[in-house]
Amino acid sequence: ASTLRSLAEAQNRYIGTEITGNMVNNATITSLAGTQFDMVTPGNEMKWDTTEPGNGSYNFGPGDNVVSFAQAHNMRVRGHNLVWHAQLPGWVNSLPRNQVQGAMEAHITTEVNHYKGKIYAWDVINEPFNEDGSLRQDAFTNAMGTGYLADAIRTAHNADPNAVLYINDYNIEGENAKSNGLYSLAQSLLSQGVPLGGIGLESHFIVGQVPSSMLANMQRFAALGLDVAVTELDDRIQLPASGSSLQQQANDYATVVKDCLAVTRCPGVSQWGVGDADSWIPGTFPGYGAASMYDNNYQPKPAYNATATAL
Ligand code: XIL
Repeated sequence: ASTLRSLAEAQNRYIGTEITGNMVNNATITSLAGTQFDMVTPGNEMKWDTTEPGNGSYNFGPGDNVVSFAQAHNMRVRGHNLVWHAQLPGWVNSLPRNQVQGAMEAHITTEVNHYKGKIYAWDVINEPFNEDGSLRQDAFTNAMGTGYLADAIRTAHNADPNAVLYINDYNIEGENAKSNGLYSLAQSLLSQGVPLGGIGLESHFIVGQVPSSMLANMQRFAALGLDVAVTELDDRIQLPASGSSLQQQANDYATVVKDCLAVTRCPGVSQWGVGDADSWIPGTFPGYGAASMYDNNYQPKPAYNATATAL
């Protein structure tokens, strides 16, 4: 049978997966991931708490291992992420306000430069919005106001002009207050000439709840001249998963893939994790799981077949 990646590539798209922790040392996972997917997102290894745990002291070893895995399997890499309120080391939150901008610019420049030429796209800003569409209050808005977004994206662009630079968030897949806030911000950044290149729709869905306005929402961002990627797809089910919920999950995966294929500016779809066994969902949403295309033994689920068919 065809692999997901060969099907995606035939459509000029990619199909990606998240790899994190000791997954790179698990032969079952690496051979499956390397065969089926052609894009990798490191789950935690490029986040600020890992890459710069102390001010000016950098640690790129874990991220380098994920990049090596990807390159060995001819997969590209989405860099994730540069600026985020979470998994942010304590020293950043403790900085005097007038030192946050310098620390942010140094962090972005050093990390993007380290991976220069190896990263297809960077999630420069991760999860900046509140649910009502306002910007989240965090160390960055406290120090710089709204201007931190433009500054971060420009700084990343200076370090690697070839990487596509994204804002990535959740609950922005459909048209709602949060995605409206992002849409206004994207318009404003583009009007200032900020090199924003894409919008990442995380797409951590609950089974049966893919928003019906997802396609229209993707199209409105694409119409601004931006790429719109599905960056962290999973579709959680209350455990134990019934046969009908697994079938609904298959429909959900197919819907998402078809939405991407319907939008010229959608470069691809990435799943968060390879199989249910390595998904973050059971740890974060107790009682839920079975959120990926492969089961606990890395056997394909209905969602896998639906994805292959949709591609
Ligand atoms: C998650 C990882 O999967 C977990 O291992 C970690 O403990 C917390 O972060 N949105 C994002 C990702 O942008 O970085 C998050 O990843 C999941 C939600």
